[in-house]
Amino acid sequence: MKARIYITRKLPDEVVRGLQEQFHVTMWEKVDIPVPYEILEKEIQHVDGLFSMLTETIDEKLLQKAKKLKVISTMAVGYNNIDIAAASKQRIMVTHTPGVLTETTADLTFALLMAAARRVIEASDYVRKGSWKTWSPMLLTGQDIYGSTLGIIGFGQIGQALARRAAGFNMKVLYYSRSRKEHAEKETGAIYTDLESLLKESDFVSVLTPLTAETKHIIDEKELALMKKTAILINTARGEVVNETALYQALQNGEILAAGLDVFQEEPISMDHPLLTLPNVVALPHIGSASVKTRLAMAHLAAQQLIDGLHGKRPENTVNPIVFE
Ligand code: DGY
Repeated sequence: MKARIYITRKLPDEVVRGLQEQFHVTMWEKVDIPVPYEILEKEIQHVDGLFSMLTETIDEKLLQKAKKLKVISTMAVGYNNIDIAAASKQRIMVTHTPGVLTETTADLTFALLMAAARRVIEASDYVRKGSWKTWSPMLLTGQDIYGSTLGIIGFGQIGQALARRAAGFNMKVLYYSRSRKEHAEKETGAIYTDLESLLKESDFVSVLTPLTAETKHIIDEKELALMKKTAILINTARGEVVNETALYQALQNGEILAAGLDVFQEEPISMDHPLLTLPNVVALPHIGSASVKTRLAMAHLAAQQLIDGLHGKRPENTVNPIVFE
């Protein structure tokens, strides 16, 4: 008998077809609304595998209903939305999709950095609103990128890919992470430093750590106060690594110059959020890995790991290998 799986969002047809060949598939068909928790709570009771997104909260309460569940395959590199300890307790494998999204996410991070530095969105709005009357010497002047200093907090695959891009702009790259990455230092020329020095010396600070209890609000009032008045903060990790209230104050009071944000504490961000009132904030709707090729690669990888897990193989990117012990 075929195993049963639930897919929490409409996926490309080719990926769904591949899964249908192996499993009995039920899928939440909506494209722009995530499956409500109460529906997932019902569906999860009957399935062996779950193909999920970063929009689902997969907590202990939900997992307790999942008596048959063996694998959760999330189509994301980040898995802070899943209670890994609770899944491990129930011997449920959790897999994610690192690697395939590295370069695409680094591209977007650099694009955000450039957009915030050179006020690209503000300038485009200026043209569209009909405000452009003449060329003027200091009109919409921004910050130089070439030759500046970039501080990267979290030096995993995406952080390292960002450092490679920075080399093309002759940037000095500092990084801070839990452990020193000497091999990556040699490859990228990045310099390991403590967090305080990174914040004081960088023209751009890019946060690229996973969200954990240790990294929650790693950028808070104190850290923002250490940054240069001309510094620009870029967050393409998770909203909660930055204290948004403190960030708003720092931007409003001129403690830092600008921010480029692809992620927010609440997603989607509410339209009356104070950050959206500031012209020096570039806000994007969590599109770090959103290229056609990469999203397809993520979907295929997530599907393959679900197939492997349900066929008794060890999936390549298991977050909690403890379940195999
Ligand atoms: C991830 O994979 O965690 C990103 O935030 C979305 O691609």
